[in-house]
Amino acid sequence: MQKNHKGVTMKERPLLLINFKAYTEATGAKAVKLAKICETIARKKTQVKIILAVQTADLHRVSNAVSLDVYSQHLDPIPPGAFTGMISAYSAREAGAKGVILNHSEHQLSQEHLERACYEAKRYGLRTVVCTGTLKNAHELAALSPDFLAIEPPELIGGTLSVSEAHPDLISKAVDILQRKHVGVLVGAGIHSGPDVRKAIELGAQGVLVSSHIVKAANPRQVLLSWLEQL
Ligand code: G3P
Repeated sequence: MQKNHKGVTMKERPLLLINFKAYTEATGAKAVKLAKICETIARKKTQVKIILAVQTADLHRVSNAVSLDVYSQHLDPIPPGAFTGMISAYSAREAGAKGVILNHSEHQLSQEHLERACYEAKRYGLRTVVCTGTLKNAHELAALSPDFLAIEPPELIGGTLSVSEAHPDLISKAVDILQRKHVGVLVGAGIHSGPDVRKAIELGAQGVLVSSHIVKAANPRQVLLSWLEQL
């Protein structure tokens, strides 16, 4: 069992949540191809648990193709019923999702939407990753009792400076605040190397969210392998 920097034993392996976003490199058949690459690596390198967050249209095909946990990138706050063009927690679960990302900075939700979407997700047994860009509203979001609060400074998303390099203090503060509330901490934005992942974990995070540096890499297999080899 791994320990974080405070010597606290982590019950679960750290998470590497790979957000496929809406990149063409991770859409449709390419989403399946990338998912299979991740699965092959996950079998060899077991230090982290790899989770994939895919587009709604790819949930079923990706979760059917691999044994890794697959998450939805969003949910609407609706029960099953007379709604059109919405994503219910029930439909995501039926499509194979094991969890959901909510309130990503690229898909922000009102507090009311977020509360209801969390409620629906839990009702259907989905794990919840609620995102925020800052710690200002951390208490309010922690009150929703998500499985994880993911801190992603929006200005670093898609860039080459990582949250681990730019804001190690933010990670430590998030861990201090949220550990007491029994909410796991994930961090993300600009993560581009094994040491970035390692630092986040050493600072007490339960894992990281990553996207562009894996999904858009010329050779995602090589990049992912080299990160995991450096943990
Ligand atoms: O959800 C993960 C994400 O927002 C981070 O994106 O491209 O900076 O790894 P990226």
